[in-house]
Amino acid sequence: MKRIGILTGGGDCPGLNGAVKWVVKTAEDPASAAIPYEVIGIRDGWKGLVKGDPDRVLPPFADFGEEGYFKRLVSAEVRPWDRSGGTRLGTSRTNPFNPKNDRSETVIRNIERLGLHAVIAIGGEDTLSVAAKLSEKGIPCVGIPKTIDRDLAGTDYSIGFETAVNVITEEVDRLRTTAGSHSRIFVVETMGRHAGHLALQGGMSAGAYVILIPEWDFDMNQVGQLIAKRRQSGVRYSIVVVAEGAKQAGGTVVQRQIGLDEFGHVTLGGVGEQVARGIAEITGLETRAVVLSHLQRGGTPCAYDRRMARNFGICAVNLVQNGQTGRMVSFLQGRYTSVPLQEVLGKLALVDVEREYDTRLYNGKRTILPL
Ligand code: F6P
Repeated sequence: MKRIGILTGGGDCPGLNGAVKWVVKTAEDPASAAIPYEVIGIRDGWKGLVKGDPDRVLPPFADFGEEGYFKRLVSAEVRPWDRSGGTRLGTSRTNPFNPKNDRSETVIRNIERLGLHAVIAIGGEDTLSVAAKLSEKGIPCVGIPKTIDRDLAGTDYSIGFETAVNVITEEVDRLRTTAGSHSRIFVVETMGRHAGHLALQGGMSAGAYVILIPEWDFDMNQVGQLIAKRRQSGVRYSIVVVAEGAKQAGGTVVQRQIGLDEFGHVTLGGVGEQVARGIAEITGLETRAVVLSHLQRGGTPCAYDRRMARNFGICAVNLVQNGQTGRMVSFLQGRYTSVPLQEVLGKLALVDVEREYDTRLYNGKRTILPL
């Protein structure tokens, strides 16, 4: 029987387990697959293919334990997975093509020794860049887009985004009662390294008064004036949402930690505190900062992510069945399709400031239909 390997890489998010479930169900269903496939779950993303022993494939239902990196997945085991968050396969930010420590030959050897006919990688730009490089070297790979930042090019949706927007909305709702009671300003820092989709969509859903995004450098004075005017008009509190990658005009992004990960990224964090200090200084109003951080990636997937995970999982197996590898499953203009992995890399899907963002009010645009 032909084998498909599946892994999840990069930051986790709700919806990953659902995608794995539907890959397994589709692959082993003789009605949907002309040749049913056996699916091998790979633990901890690309790290599993660097570290794992291909002669040791665990049976279904086995725990990976400390040493196990590969196991057979069957419907009976993955059946309830779509309801749970995180990733049951584990994840890592291991980059086998890291120029300082290239382990790509080990990965290729292990894929061959496992007898994988194709590898399905669920991830964002970093994880999929590895899939693209392996495809170039002749390893059939298919990508499923996942990132709460929704900044992947080539698709209008990535698994995890909508659940994260729901978390932001719920948490801001909680903050409103305490903000109102104390007449305080709250600055809520969301994830969103390069793209402001999460802050903008989350902020609009939550009814934030000011939203700051990486695509538009903000003027601290303008933020302060917006808040001050609102207080003068009699509104007791305001919510400001700021993406971790947003920065002041003329300033730099705020880093929580010095050093780069294996894909060369810095660890962002702290801009919320900076904005809160700025607002307090300019307005004299009591201001607090809250960092939502990994809460945005936690919990169970919302209904939309469950459906998208299901459909992306099915599409990924369909691509393998059709021999259309080297591609990423995609949702574009309301339709499921696929795009070459190569086309996804090196570009980011950012907020279209002109169309979506009001640079005067620092919020979503108030003109939506063409005037
Ligand atoms: O996956 C992208 C992201 O959500 C970024 O917005 C954020 O900077 C990063 O993950 C943080 O991830 P971690 O702390 O798990 O490395």
